Amino acid sequence: MRKFVFAVSAALVVGLTTPIIVSATTPQEDLKAFRNYYYEKFPDVPKEDYINGIYSLNKDFREQWENQEEFPPYEEFIEKGEEMFNTPFANGKTYADCLPKGGIGTRAMYPHFDKESGTLKTLEEEINKCRKANGEKPLKYNKGPIANLTAYIAYTSRGEKFDTEIPNDERALALYEKGKKHWYMKRGQLNLSCADCHMYNSGMFARSDQLSPALGHLTHFPVYRLKWQGLGTPHRRFGGCNKQVRAAAYKPQSEEYKALEYFLTYMSKGLEANGPALRK
Ligand code: HEC
Repeated sequence: MRKFVFAVSAALVVGLTTPIIVSATTPQEDLKAFRNYYYEKFPDVPKEDYINGIYSLNKDFREQWENQEEFPPYEEFIEKGEEMFNTPFANGKTYADCLPKGGIGTRAMYPHFDKESGTLKTLEEEINKCRKANGEKPLKYNKGPIANLTAYIAYTSRGEKFDTEIPNDERALALYEKGKKHWYMKRGQLNLSCADCHMYNSGMFARSDQLSPALGHLTHFPVYRLKWQGLGTPHRRFGGCNKQVRAAAYKPQSEEYKALEYFLTYMSKGLEANGPALRK
């Protein structure tokens, strides 16, 4: 553990001296500054390629990854998700009957702010809402059947662009600010923020991992990680990254992670959905 701390802190000296940017700016201004940060740091990366995470930066990793993508390990899970999607519930209804817009091709709609309830809607929660409304048990949120279903829905949404809005509504703005705060706040025994690793030190190595830029971070979930030997939802990944700095993880679908997902997805506005994806 000590070794990891050393390795990380040595790699992150630059990050620790960088001031945290949390100011009274509008989401539109934040979006512009966030993107420009990466565009200036990595001028050779085509803007639409950020959806490929670390593979947008590292040619060798990219080559290996493209080879693995020829027989993608997530394919069988898309098929399982498709079967689930098309299998009627005990009452004869299907997901297509109760998911907004019938479910197909809808990945890029999430998360979004719902004016009526004043809350954020995520794809995973909508799936469970649909199940409960039809007398089925809700699914666990991090992995397993729910990720198979979202993998199928993501697959049917490839190429759709994220068009996340932060409406001019106090409640939406508060949720956006909550997510932004999580992103920039230092936490855990290592005292590092998401931004320390995925912004100020993106492109640097922390042990054998190279840190990906956060632009495009949420375009391709669920992700099949070789380390997990399976799929995980965005909140599973958030939990893992919180734990990496020895901070406690929040519950999947907690207000905290939904707000973080909202902030990060907004930062990827205009990029294409390309899930499910393969990562190390
Ligand atoms: C100590 C450094 C560190 C911190 C702090 C950290 N991460 Fe990560 N994160 C990593 C590493 C290493 C990976 C795997 C390599 C990569 O894709 O960057 C990763 C991967 C990710 C991925 C997957 C990227 C992809 O292409 O699929 C997401 C999303 C992510 N982190 C989000 C976050 C968020 C949100 C936070 C703050 C709660 C955070 N990370 C904090 C190190 C960190």
